[in-house]
Amino acid sequence: MEISQLETETLTAIAAAGSLETLDSVRVAALGKQGSVSLLLKTMGQMSPEERQIQGPLLNGLRESVTAALAARKAVLEAAALDQRLASERLDMSLPAPHAPTGSIHPVSQVMDELAEIFADMGFAVAQGPEIEDDWRNFTALNIPETHPARAMHDTFYFGLNDAAGGKRMLLRTHTSPVQIRTMTSQRPPIRIIAPGRVYRSDSDATHTPMFHQVEGLVIDKGIHLGHLKWTLETFLKAFFERDDVTLRLRPSYFPFTEPSVEVDVGYAWINGKRVMGGSENWMELLGSGMVHPKVLTHCGIDPMVYSGFAFGVGVDRLAMLKYGMDDLRAFFDGDARWLAHYGFDALDVPTLSGGVSP
Ligand code: PHE
Repeated sequence: MEISQLETETLTAIAAAGSLETLDSVRVAALGKQGSVSLLLKTMGQMSPEERQIQGPLLNGLRESVTAALAARKAVLEAAALDQRLASERLDMSLPAPHAPTGSIHPVSQVMDELAEIFADMGFAVAQGPEIEDDWRNFTALNIPETHPARAMHDTFYFGLNDAAGGKRMLLRTHTSPVQIRTMTSQRPPIRIIAPGRVYRSDSDATHTPMFHQVEGLVIDKGIHLGHLKWTLETFLKAFFERDDVTLRLRPSYFPFTEPSVEVDVGYAWINGKRVMGGSENWMELLGSGMVHPKVLTHCGIDPMVYSGFAFGVGVDRLAMLKYGMDDLRAFFDGDARWLAHYGFDALDVPTLSGGVSP
Protein backbone atom coordinates (compact mmCIF):
# COMPACT_ATOMS: atom_id res chain seq x y z
CA MET A 1 0.00 0.00 0.00
CA GLU A 2 1.13 3.53 -0.65
CA ILE A 3 2.67 5.17 2.39
CA SER A 4 0.49 8.23 1.98
CA GLN A 5 -2.66 6.14 1.69
CA LEU A 6 -1.80 4.17 4.82
CA GLU A 7 -1.14 7.46 6.62
CA THR A 8 -4.49 8.92 5.57
CA GLU A 9 -6.38 5.78 6.59
CA THR A 10 -4.66 5.49 9.96
CA LEU A 11 -5.07 9.20 10.79
CA THR A 12 -8.75 8.97 9.83
CA ALA A 13 -9.23 5.94 12.12
CA ILE A 14 -7.50 7.79 14.96
CA ALA A 15 -9.69 10.87 14.52
CA ALA A 16 -12.80 8.66 14.43
CA ALA A 17 -11.96 6.75 17.64
CA GLY A 18 -14.70 7.64 20.09
CA SER A 19 -13.26 5.97 23.15
CA LEU A 20 -9.91 5.17 24.70
CA GLU A 21 -10.52 1.46 24.00
CA THR A 22 -11.16 2.00 20.26
CA LEU A 23 -8.14 4.29 20.08
CA ASP A 24 -5.99 1.57 21.63
CA SER A 25 -7.08 -1.01 19.05
CA VAL A 26 -6.24 1.50 16.28
CA ARG A 27 -2.81 1.90 17.92
CA VAL A 28 -2.24 -1.89 18.00
CA ALA A 29 -3.42 -2.24 14.37
CA ALA A 30 -0.86 0.38 13.28
CA LEU A 31 2.09 0.26 15.69
CA GLY A 32 1.65 -3.18 17.35
CA LYS A 33 4.06 -6.05 16.52
CA GLN A 34 1.95 -7.09 13.54
CA GLY A 35 0.66 -3.58 12.89
CA SER A 36 0.50 -2.11 9.41
CA VAL A 37 3.08 0.61 10.10
CA SER A 38 5.39 -1.76 11.97
CA LEU A 39 5.34 -4.31 9.13
CA LEU A 40 6.13 -1.57 6.63
CA LEU A 41 9.05 -0.40 8.75
CA LYS A 42 10.40 -3.97 8.81
CA THR A 43 10.63 -4.02 5.00
CA MET A 44 13.46 -1.46 5.26
CA GLY A 45 15.79 -4.34 6.14
CA GLN A 46 15.46 -5.86 2.70
CA MET A 47 15.86 -2.58 0.77
CA SER A 48 18.88 -1.61 -1.23
CA PRO A 49 20.84 1.34 0.26
CA GLU A 50 19.55 3.70 -2.46
CA GLU A 51 15.95 2.65 -1.92
CA ARG A 52 16.32 2.92 1.86
CA GLN A 53 17.62 6.48 1.49
CA ILE A 54 14.34 7.51 -0.11
CA GLN A 55 11.89 5.21 1.76
CA GLY A 56 13.57 5.53 5.19
CA PRO A 57 12.63 9.17 5.93
CA LEU A 58 9.13 8.62 4.51
CA LEU A 59 8.50 5.58 6.74
CA ASN A 60 9.92 7.26 9.82
CA GLY A 61 7.77 10.31 9.01
CA LEU A 62 4.73 8.00 8.85
CA ARG A 63 5.55 6.47 12.25
CA GLU A 64 6.03 9.92 13.80
CA SER A 65 2.82 11.40 12.47
CA VAL A 66 0.80 8.32 13.61
CA THR A 67 2.43 8.41 17.08
CA ALA A 68 1.72 12.13 17.43
CA ALA A 69 -1.87 11.77 16.27
CA LEU A 70 -2.44 8.90 18.75
CA ALA A 71 -1.09 11.00 21.66
CA ALA A 72 -3.18 14.03 20.72
CA ARG A 73 -6.36 11.98 20.37
CA LYS A 74 -5.64 10.22 23.68
CA ALA A 75 -5.33 13.56 25.47
CA VAL A 76 -8.65 14.73 24.02
CA LEU A 77 -10.46 11.52 25.00
CA GLU A 78 -8.97 11.55 28.51
CA ALA A 79 -10.04 15.15 29.08
CA ALA A 80 -13.56 14.27 27.90
CA ALA A 81 -13.66 11.26 30.25
CA LEU A 82 -12.59 13.46 33.19
CA ASP A 83 -15.23 16.08 32.36
CA GLN A 84 -17.85 13.39 32.31
CA ARG A 85 -16.74 12.03 35.69
CA LEU A 86 -16.71 15.51 37.20
CA ALA A 87 -20.21 16.11 35.94
CA SER A 88 -21.61 12.82 37.22
CA GLU A 89 -19.81 12.93 40.58
CA ARG A 90 -20.89 16.47 41.42
CA LEU A 91 -22.02 17.14 45.02
CA ASP A 92 -24.80 19.62 45.66
CA MET A 93 -23.20 21.81 48.31
CA SER A 94 -26.40 23.78 48.77
CA LEU A 95 -28.06 20.79 50.46
CA PRO A 96 -28.19 21.09 54.26
CA ALA A 97 -25.59 18.95 56.07
CA PRO A 98 -27.08 15.94 57.83
CA HIS A 99 -27.24 16.38 61.61
CA ALA A 100 -24.60 13.89 62.69
CA PRO A 101 -22.68 15.27 65.64
CA THR A 102 -19.80 13.02 66.67
CA GLY A 103 -18.72 14.85 69.82
CA SER A 104 -20.14 17.12 72.47
CA ILE A 105 -18.98 19.78 74.89
CA HIS A 106 -18.56 18.50 78.46
CA PRO A 107 -20.84 20.27 80.97
CA VAL A 108 -17.75 21.49 82.87
CA SER A 109 -16.36 23.15 79.74
CA GLN A 110 -19.80 24.54 78.95
CA VAL A 111 -20.16 26.07 82.44
CA MET A 112 -16.63 27.51 82.31
CA ASP A 113 -17.49 29.17 79.00
CA GLU A 114 -20.70 30.52 80.52
CA LEU A 115 -18.75 31.91 83.50
CA ALA A 116 -16.16 33.58 81.25
CA GLU A 117 -18.99 35.13 79.23
CA ILE A 118 -20.88 36.43 82.27
CA PHE A 119 -17.79 37.85 84.00
CA ALA A 120 -16.36 39.34 80.81
CA ASP A 121 -19.54 41.40 80.66
CA MET A 122 -18.69 42.74 84.16
CA GLY A 123 -15.16 43.64 83.06
CA PHE A 124 -13.29 40.59 84.40
CA ALA A 125 -10.32 39.09 82.55
CA VAL A 126 -9.55 35.37 82.66
CA ALA A 127 -6.33 34.47 84.53
CA GLN A 128 -4.58 31.13 84.75
CA GLY A 129 -2.03 29.37 86.91
CA PRO A 130 -0.30 25.99 86.91
CA GLU A 131 -1.84 22.92 88.51
CA ILE A 132 1.56 22.00 90.00
CA GLU A 133 2.04 24.80 92.49
CA ASP A 134 4.48 25.70 95.24
CA ASP A 135 3.71 25.69 98.91
CA TRP A 136 4.17 29.44 99.26
CA ARG A 137 1.48 30.39 96.71
CA ASN A 138 -0.94 27.61 97.65
CA PHE A 139 -0.69 28.19 101.42
CA THR A 140 1.86 30.55 102.98
CA ALA A 141 1.13 33.69 100.95
CA LEU A 142 -2.57 33.03 101.54
CA ASN A 143 -1.95 33.39 105.27
CA ILE A 144 -1.91 29.64 105.90
CA PRO A 145 1.50 29.14 107.58
CA GLU A 146 3.13 25.73 108.10
CA THR A 147 1.49 25.04 111.44
CA HIS A 148 -1.93 26.43 110.55
CA PRO A 149 -4.81 24.00 111.20
CA ALA A 150 -6.38 25.01 107.86
CA ARG A 151 -3.70 22.99 106.06
CA ALA A 152 -5.33 19.89 107.46
CA MET A 153 -8.63 20.97 105.83
CA HIS A 154 -7.02 20.51 102.43
CA ASP A 155 -5.97 16.89 101.90
CA THR A 156 -3.00 17.85 99.81
CA PHE A 157 -1.19 15.73 97.20
CA TYR A 158 2.50 16.54 97.72
CA PHE A 159 5.40 15.77 95.40
CA GLY A 160 8.77 14.61 96.75
CA LEU A 161 11.42 17.19 97.57
CA ASN A 162 12.68 18.64 94.30
CA ASP A 163 16.26 19.89 94.09
CA ALA A 164 15.64 21.30 90.62
CA ALA A 165 12.98 23.56 92.12
CA GLY A 166 15.51 24.87 94.64
CA GLY A 167 14.65 22.24 97.24
CA LYS A 168 11.03 23.42 97.22
CA ARG A 169 8.25 20.97 97.89
CA MET A 170 5.72 21.18 95.04
CA LEU A 171 2.09 20.12 95.32
CA LEU A 172 -1.07 19.80 93.27
CA ARG A 173 -2.95 23.02 93.99
CA THR A 174 -5.79 22.39 96.42
CA HIS A 175 -7.75 25.43 95.24
CA THR A 176 -7.58 28.17 92.59
CA SER A 177 -6.66 30.77 95.24
CA PRO A 178 -2.90 30.64 94.37
CA VAL A 179 -3.90 32.39 91.13
CA GLN A 180 -4.84 35.35 93.37
CA ILE A 181 -1.20 35.45 94.50
CA ARG A 182 0.12 35.04 90.95
CA THR A 183 -2.08 37.88 89.74
CA MET A 184 -1.35 40.28 92.60
CA THR A 185 2.42 39.72 92.35
CA SER A 186 2.49 40.25 88.59
CA GLN A 187 0.12 43.18 88.04
CA ARG A 188 -0.91 46.32 89.87
CA PRO A 189 -4.48 47.23 90.89
CA PRO A 190 -7.12 47.77 89.70
CA ILE A 191 -7.47 44.00 89.29
CA ARG A 192 -10.58 42.16 88.11
CA ILE A 193 -10.03 38.51 87.21
CA ILE A 194 -11.64 35.12 87.30
CA ALA A 195 -9.47 32.00 87.28
CA PRO A 196 -11.19 28.75 86.31
CA GLY A 197 -9.30 25.48 86.51
CA ARG A 198 -8.61 22.06 87.97
CA VAL A 199 -7.82 21.55 91.64
CA TYR A 200 -6.87 18.41 93.60
CA ARG A 201 -7.61 16.98 97.02
CA SER A 202 -7.18 13.48 98.35
CA ASP A 203 -10.87 12.85 98.82
CA SER A 204 -13.36 10.55 97.08
CA ASP A 205 -17.09 9.77 97.43
CA ALA A 206 -20.35 10.62 95.61
CA THR A 207 -19.83 14.36 96.09
CA HIS A 208 -16.01 14.51 96.15
CA THR A 209 -13.52 13.48 93.47
CA PRO A 210 -9.71 13.76 93.82
CA MET A 211 -9.76 16.26 90.95
CA PHE A 212 -12.48 18.84 90.57
CA HIS A 213 -12.96 22.34 89.16
CA GLN A 214 -13.15 25.74 90.76
CA VAL A 215 -13.41 29.27 89.55
CA GLU A 216 -11.69 31.95 91.57
CA GLY A 217 -12.73 35.60 91.48
CA LEU A 218 -10.59 38.53 92.59
CA VAL A 219 -11.22 42.27 92.61
CA ILE A 220 -8.67 44.74 94.04
CA ASP A 221 -9.08 48.50 93.89
CA LYS A 222 -9.43 51.54 96.11
CA GLY A 223 -12.58 51.54 98.21
CA ILE A 224 -13.83 48.01 97.47
CA HIS A 225 -16.19 46.76 100.19
CA LEU A 226 -18.50 43.87 101.04
CA GLY A 227 -21.36 45.50 99.11
CA HIS A 228 -19.40 45.11 95.87
CA LEU A 229 -18.91 41.43 96.65
CA LYS A 230 -22.60 40.88 97.30
CA TRP A 231 -23.67 42.73 94.15
CA THR A 232 -21.15 40.83 92.01
CA LEU A 233 -22.23 37.42 93.30
CA GLU A 234 -25.91 38.27 92.96
CA THR A 235 -25.47 39.55 89.41
CA PHE A 236 -23.38 36.52 88.48
CA LEU A 237 -25.80 33.95 89.93
CA LYS A 238 -28.85 35.58 88.33
CA ALA A 239 -27.15 35.54 84.94
CA PHE A 240 -25.88 32.00 85.44
CA PHE A 241 -29.18 30.45 86.55
CA GLU A 242 -31.06 32.74 84.15
CA ARG A 243 -33.62 33.81 86.71
CA ASP A 244 -34.16 37.10 88.52
CA ASP A 245 -35.54 35.47 91.66
CA VAL A 246 -32.33 33.75 92.72
CA THR A 247 -32.06 34.12 96.52
CA LEU A 248 -28.76 34.37 98.40
CA ARG A 249 -27.91 33.95 102.04
CA LEU A 250 -24.58 35.25 103.31
CA ARG A 251 -23.24 33.54 106.43
CA PRO A 252 -20.19 34.56 108.43
CA SER A 253 -17.47 31.98 107.93
CA TYR A 254 -13.75 31.51 108.16
CA PHE A 255 -10.97 31.40 105.58
CA PRO A 256 -7.40 32.36 106.55
CA PHE A 257 -7.06 34.55 103.44
CA THR A 258 -10.24 36.62 103.82
CA GLU A 259 -11.47 38.84 106.62
CA PRO A 260 -14.37 38.98 107.07
CA SER A 261 -15.18 35.67 105.37
CA VAL A 262 -18.59 34.95 103.96
CA GLU A 263 -20.11 31.66 102.89
CA VAL A 264 -22.88 32.02 100.33
CA ASP A 265 -25.92 29.73 100.12
CA VAL A 266 -28.54 29.71 97.36
CA GLY A 267 -32.21 29.05 98.07
CA TYR A 268 -34.18 26.38 96.21
CA ALA A 269 -37.42 24.42 96.35
CA TRP A 270 -38.40 20.91 95.27
CA ILE A 271 -41.13 21.13 92.65
CA ASN A 272 -42.39 17.85 91.10
CA GLY A 273 -39.24 16.08 92.20
CA LYS A 274 -37.05 18.71 90.59
CA ARG A 275 -34.78 21.22 92.25
CA VAL A 276 -35.87 24.75 91.32
CA MET A 277 -33.71 27.74 92.21
CA GLY A 278 -35.25 30.57 94.23
CA GLY A 279 -37.20 30.93 97.46
CA SER A 280 -36.02 30.26 100.98
CA GLU A 281 -37.39 26.78 101.62
CA ASN A 282 -34.01 25.05 101.40
CA TRP A 283 -30.49 26.43 101.26
CA MET A 284 -27.46 24.97 99.61
CA GLU A 285 -23.91 26.01 100.36
CA LEU A 286 -22.45 27.25 97.09
CA LEU A 287 -19.29 29.26 97.53
CA GLY A 288 -16.69 30.74 99.82
CA SER A 289 -15.74 34.39 99.71
CA GLY A 290 -14.68 37.42 101.67
CA MET A 291 -12.59 40.57 101.77
CA VAL A 292 -8.95 39.85 100.92
CA HIS A 293 -6.96 39.67 104.17
CA PRO A 294 -4.54 42.60 104.66
CA LYS A 295 -1.72 40.11 105.25
CA VAL A 296 -2.32 38.57 101.81
CA LEU A 297 -2.16 42.00 100.17
CA THR A 298 1.07 42.73 102.06
CA HIS A 299 2.61 39.40 100.96
CA CYS A 300 1.97 40.51 97.37
CA GLY A 301 3.42 43.99 97.86
CA ILE A 302 0.05 45.77 97.79
CA ASP A 303 -0.52 48.36 100.50
CA PRO A 304 -3.64 47.39 102.50
CA MET A 305 -3.98 50.98 103.70
CA VAL A 306 -4.56 52.07 100.08
CA TYR A 307 -6.21 49.07 98.44
CA SER A 308 -8.85 46.59 99.42
CA GLY A 309 -10.63 43.84 97.56
CA PHE A 310 -12.77 40.76 97.62
CA ALA A 311 -12.27 37.18 96.49
CA PHE A 312 -14.51 34.20 95.99
CA GLY A 313 -14.15 30.55 95.05
CA VAL A 314 -16.90 28.37 93.55
CA GLY A 315 -17.03 24.72 92.62
CA VAL A 316 -17.65 24.58 88.86
CA ASP A 317 -18.83 20.97 88.97
CA ARG A 318 -21.35 21.87 91.67
CA LEU A 319 -22.62 24.77 89.51
CA ALA A 320 -23.02 22.43 86.54
CA MET A 321 -24.90 19.84 88.63
CA LEU A 322 -27.28 22.48 89.97
CA LYS A 323 -27.98 24.03 86.59
CA TYR A 324 -28.14 20.93 84.42
CA GLY A 325 -29.48 18.37 86.91
CA MET A 326 -26.81 15.68 87.23
CA ASP A 327 -26.72 14.01 90.62
CA ASP A 328 -23.45 12.04 90.75
CA LEU A 329 -20.20 13.97 90.51
CA ARG A 330 -18.16 10.86 89.72
CA ALA A 331 -19.94 10.43 86.36
CA PHE A 332 -18.35 13.74 85.27
CA PHE A 333 -14.98 12.05 84.98
CA ASP A 334 -15.93 8.54 83.78
CA GLY A 335 -15.71 9.45 80.10
CA ASP A 336 -18.87 7.42 79.39
CA ALA A 337 -20.00 8.30 75.85
CA ARG A 338 -23.68 7.73 76.74
CA TRP A 339 -23.46 10.19 79.64
CA LEU A 340 -21.74 12.73 77.38
CA ALA A 341 -24.33 12.22 74.65
CA HIS A 342 -27.05 12.91 77.22
CA TYR A 343 -25.53 15.81 79.17
CA GLY A 344 -23.07 17.21 76.60
CA PHE A 345 -23.64 20.35 74.54
CA ASP A 346 -23.50 21.11 70.84
CA ALA A 347 -20.04 22.37 69.94
CA LEU A 348 -21.54 25.08 67.72
CA ASP A 349 -23.80 26.42 70.45
CA VAL A 350 -21.44 28.93 72.07
CA PRO A 351 -22.80 30.66 75.20
CA THR A 352 -23.46 34.37 74.77
CA LEU A 353 -25.32 36.80 77.00
CA SER A 354 -27.44 38.03 74.12
CA GLY A 355 -28.31 34.51 72.93
CA GLY A 356 -28.89 33.14 76.43
CA VAL A 357 -25.87 31.70 78.19
CA SER A 358 -27.20 28.14 78.19
CA PRO A 359 -28.13 26.43 74.89
N1 PHE B 1 -10.21 28.70 98.26
C1 PHE B 1 -11.37 28.44 99.07
C2 PHE B 1 -11.73 26.95 98.99
O1 PHE B 1 -11.22 26.26 98.15
C3 PHE B 1 -12.57 29.23 98.56
C4 PHE B 1 -12.41 30.71 98.71
C5 PHE B 1 -11.84 31.46 97.69
C6 PHE B 1 -12.82 31.35 99.85
C7 PHE B 1 -11.69 32.82 97.81
C8 PHE B 1 -12.67 32.71 100.00
C9 PHE B 1 -12.12 33.43 98.97
O2 PHE B 1 -12.46 26.45 99.81
